[in-house]
Amino acid sequence: MKVAIGCDHAGASMKNEIIPVLEELGIEWQDFGTKTEESCDYPDFGERVAEEVSKGSVDRGILICGTGIGMSIVANKFPGVRAALCSEDYSAKMSRLHNDANVLVLPGRIIDVKTAGEIVKVWFKTDFEGGRHQRRLDKITAIERRLNK
Ligand code: RB5
Repeated sequence: MKVAIGCDHAGASMKNEIIPVLEELGIEWQDFGTKTEESCDYPDFGERVAEEVSKGSVDRGILICGTGIGMSIVANKFPGVRAALCSEDYSAKMSRLHNDANVLVLPGRIIDVKTAGEIVKVWFKTDFEGGRHQRRLDKITAIERRLNK
């Protein structure tokens, strides 16, 4: 399991706290920035991570900004990316079971680091259920193809 992780300035400190959780889970990670709390633009970093997931050079991505909204909007522009903004572990679990989410988005200014760590753990430990949910994902892929994404 190889993961690309990225954030803007509002997610930089949470990203640093999440990396040890990935190591605890035995997950290989690559940091796509930003690496400081100096103000920057979330699309620049969301794009880097989503691109890696979209082209398949990593298995999954994690993105963090203040609310998680900007990063979600960016990531979901990329073909094959299913980004899920999660503030609690139930959504994290369901985003894997039902949506096969391949990018986890965290709101760095809304949840605490402990909650973020729990979300990361459940998100990586939960497998996609398939079945009727695969049929729904196939419909999303068909929409992407129709829109020529
Ligand atoms: C940065 O101030 C903030 O707008 C950004 O982190 C994010 O919340 C955008 O959706």
